[in-house]
Parts: sequence; C-alpha cells; structure tokens
Amino acid sequence: MREQLLAVEKVQAIDWRDGALYLLDQRLLPNQQVWLRFESAAAVADAIADMVVRGAPAIGIAAAYGLVLAARARLQVGGDWREALDADFARLEQSRPTAVNLFWALQRMRERLARLKDGDDMLALLEAEAIGIHVSDREANLTMAQLGMELIRKHQGNSQVVLTHCNAGALATGGFGTALGVIRAAHLEGLIELVYVDETRTWLQGARLTAWELVGDGVPVSLNADAAAAHLMKTKGITWVIVGAERIAANGDVANKIGTYQLAVNAMHHGVRFMVVAPSSSIDMSLESGEDILLGERSSDELLAVAGQRVAADVPAVNPVFDVTPADLVDYIVTEKGVIERPDAAKLAQLMCRKRLH
Ligand code: MRU
Repeated sequence: MREQLLAVEKVQAIDWRDGALYLLDQRLLPNQQVWLRFESAAAVADAIADMVVRGAPAIGIAAAYGLVLAARARLQVGGDWREALDADFARLEQSRPTAVNLFWALQRMRERLARLKDGDDMLALLEAEAIGIHVSDREANLTMAQLGMELIRKHQGNSQVVLTHCNAGALATGGFGTALGVIRAAHLEGLIELVYVDETRTWLQGARLTAWELVGDGVPVSLNADAAAAHLMKTKGITWVIVGAERIAANGDVANKIGTYQLAVNAMHHGVRFMVVAPSSSIDMSLESGEDILLGERSSDELLAVAGQRVAADVPAVNPVFDVTPADLVDYIVTEKGVIERPDAAKLAQLMCRKRLH
C-alpha cells in the first residue's frame, strides 16, 4: 500500500527549500494555487492564525520550520540568542490554541536545543529536527492509511459509503492525510463506493479542500451541507464516518472541527462506525479528559458573512470552531502506533508506550 500511495501522491502544502518555508495558501484553494514564502517566525505565526496553513499536523510542522527561521535571525543579531528565542517560541505557541501538534512540535524543537553541545552547528541541527518532524508525519500517515483501510476491509468489504468532515488530508499534514489517507488507501483497494463530504462552515474546508483533494485522486465524491449528515446516514447507506483530530485527551475524548461531535452522536444512532485517524503527536496524555481541552473560537464575522458579504440580521453570533466528541462515541482511534477499539484511558496509556509501527 505504501508504494501504491507514493505512486499517486499529488498534493503537498508545505515545502522547505533555500532556507525558507513555502506554504500553499489554503485560503485561495481550489480556485488558485499560490505558494507564499516565509522568512520569519512572526510571519509563520500569522500564517497559522490566518489559516494560510491549517490542520493540526501541518501547523506543527510549519511552527517547527518557523522556529528554525527564528533561530537564524537571533543568531545573526548575536547576544543572548537563547533567551531571545523564548519570545519566538511564545509567538508561535500563541498562534492557535487547540491542536496539540503545535505544542508537541515546538517542544521537540526545545528539547533539541537543550541537547546542543559546544561546537554543534545549532542551525543545521534545528533544521534537521524540523525536517524530521515533517518526514515522520508523512510516514505516520502512510502507516495509518494501511491500518484504517484494513479495518474497513475487515468489517464490511467492498462498496463502502463514507462520510468525512473538514479536511484531514494532505493539505492538513505532512502528506497523504490522516482520515483522507485512510480513504485514499481504501479507494486504491476498491473498497469505496462514495465519499460524502460535509462542506464544513465557516471556512468550507470540506467543499474547498477535501472535495478538491479527493476529486484529484479520482475518488467518487458528493458534497453536502453540514446539516444534511444525519439525513444522509439514515437514507444513503453510510457505513463509516472517518475524521481527523486536533487533540485527543488521555481518556480518548477527541477535539476536532466543530460538527464532529454531532456526527458521532448521529453515527451511534444510525449504527454507523466512527473512526478517528490521528498520529500519536495529536494525543495529549497530560489532559485527563476532553473537558480540559482549550477549544478555539473565531470571530463571529466569519459566521455573519458569506464570501465577504454580510448576510445575517443584526445579531450577536457565536463561532466555536472545535468541539469534543466523548470517547464512548468513538469506535476506533487509528494511530501510527496501532489501532484502539472503543478507546479509554487504559488503552490510550498502553498505546502511547508502543513504538511506531514503521
Ligand atoms: O480549522 P482547521 O481547518 O485547521 O481544522 C482542521 C481539523 O479540524 C482537522 O480535522 C484536524 O486538524 C486534523 S487534520 C489531520
């Protein structure tokens, strides 16, 4: 499966070359494909906050490269660069609250810094660490694609109808995607009849990004309004909901794009299996449950307007962008370390002690 997936890979959103970070501007997709060049940590932090780059693993990777840019700038200025770098860590950490991958990647960069010895080439080692974070995320996705595909095959065989939410694809990661990696692999194995894609208000990640990625791979896709999901589960033979995660707490509660929770409730009601696909870097063992996860809200303007045009009445609006799905609504969590069925604290703890499967 690894080779098959590598052979069909088309989409990448993050590129590190000539000592600069390049990000595919996801706000403009699918109509325009514009790559932006970044040379400072502050600009990378803004790109994360402004949704140029989005998706939990992708923002972790971008932040790691952002830190390399920061280190280069601090070194050029001289003086106590280590202390100065703390401000860059803080700037990047403040760019988005929910995805733990951001903090995980920056923590790895911190640990790499702490291991530096006299005479080490600090910049080269930090760059290697960031590239390592990027490459290993892509590898993790290949492993998860295989594991998730096998689950689909084991349970139901050919002609599965899947529903996915937001974008947990190549654009959201170092490559291939988490949920979309599984869907891609299952499609290559001839297991997928159709993928329903929630449009995902307000940023329309489903309509703009997921639909674009899947169509590009020749996967049969049908777009639907978010509110149609329960009806589609009842009437269209959906067998799996497959989504990614922003952060998974130690008890298996899953924070993900707003609307994921109602999908899980509806999936349980309709006997549809619910699969969460996420690398172990999305699992936060320091938080006992989803109650402790900080959930981001964005400006109500995003809700009050459509395509920049004000449409709502003159009312206050609330725009939570992530929600928490309780672990008992989740059938499977697929990670690069293995699969957990019906997650709970003991199973998560056991999983986190395992080595990666690749
Ligand atoms: O606001 P976004 O587009 O960054 O939200 C993304 C999601 O909710 C994804 O499902 C999650 O980050 C996992 S991406 C592999």
